[in-house]
Amino acid sequence: MSKKGPRRSFASDNNAGVHPEIVEAIRAVNEGHVIAYGDDDITARAVKLFRKHFGKDVEVFFVFGGTGANTLGLKAITKPYQAVICAETAHINVDECGAPEKFTGCKLIALQTPDGKLRVEQLEPLVHVFGNEHHVQPRVVSISQATEMGTVYSKQELKAIAKFAHANNMLLHVDGARLANAAANLNASLKEITADAGVDVLSFGGTKNGMIYGEAVVFFDPKLARDFKYIRKQGMHLPSKMRFISAQFETLLSGDLWRRSATHANRMARLLATELEKVPGGKISLTQKVEANGVFAVVPKQFIPQLQKKYFFYVWSEAISEVRLMCSFDTTEEDIHEFVALVRRTVK
Ligand SMILES: Cc1ncc(COP(=O)(O)O)c(C=O)c1O
Repeated sequence: MSKKGPRRSFASDNNAGVHPEIVEAIRAVNEGHVIAYGDDDITARAVKLFRKHFGKDVEVFFVFGGTGANTLGLKAITKPYQAVICAETAHINVDECGAPEKFTGCKLIALQTPDGKLRVEQLEPLVHVFGNEHHVQPRVVSISQATEMGTVYSKQELKAIAKFAHANNMLLHVDGARLANAAANLNASLKEITADAGVDVLSFGGTKNGMIYGEAVVFFDPKLARDFKYIRKQGMHLPSKMRFISAQFETLLSGDLWRRSATHANRMARLLATELEKVPGGKISLTQKVEANGVFAVVPKQFIPQLQKKYFFYVWSEAISEVRLMCSFDTTEEDIHEFVALVRRTVK
């Protein structure tokens, strides 16, 4: 990679900068003093917007990051002898350094899936342990929407998992670090794919959708949120200068910024996928449906170092030489065409 590196790359939507409208929102609230820790008007307005989008009874808590949102959200609804069922590819399973296990005390039961999505048939065999003191007791099904593999659960799939969970005295947790991308893909409102589908607790992502940092833990049943203010503080996720997270969420959710940015990132990913598929000789093949802002593709091993000299991206699976290419709110068509032109020249 050159010293300066490319202006934009495909490694992660976290590698993108902050959306200019969010920068402006932060600037606009950077005047005077307001009460710290969330007892301010900006936070009250942001919470109101969450209630508009997710349902009037939701309880919302802002935290610094996604790992904290997942870990603390799960902690609020579990006991240490219980278990959280998730996909093997789930961020909580592979990318949170064991934080969910450490802070909840729960075992994660990670199930293999071809596309990052859990299916009810996989959950069914796990419930026979209920009531058996020798086994951890499954209490939560945790899914990612969109998934870490760039796929999206349909509304029917969400409802089926929620129905199964509730029928078995379990709760449905959603890691929605990319919920906006999923909603954009499904052309659905945020409520339709959460409250209406039977979700109990949600981590709602802001960072990947153009915020500087900040995520929200949303409880659809206020009773589940009863102890969360203590859990958040003890879990070191109570932001003192809360107004700066709140102002970002206010800007994201007051108009269509959340959907506009996610729709754009998804469209760029589809364009990237289409262009990669056109590379002659069948040298590049997609491994997953492109339903959000990520593209997964097999690129022959010998070409990857050459591409990585100019563009930063991750090899997802060394075993099959699969790479992950992520698009963001600021990815442009030119970025895609320049990258694909390099791919064409490299694999020729
Ligand atoms: C699916 C998913 N969940 C949660 C997160 C949040 O992680 P962080 O703790 O880095 O904000 C990420 C970030 O990559 C993610 O991809």
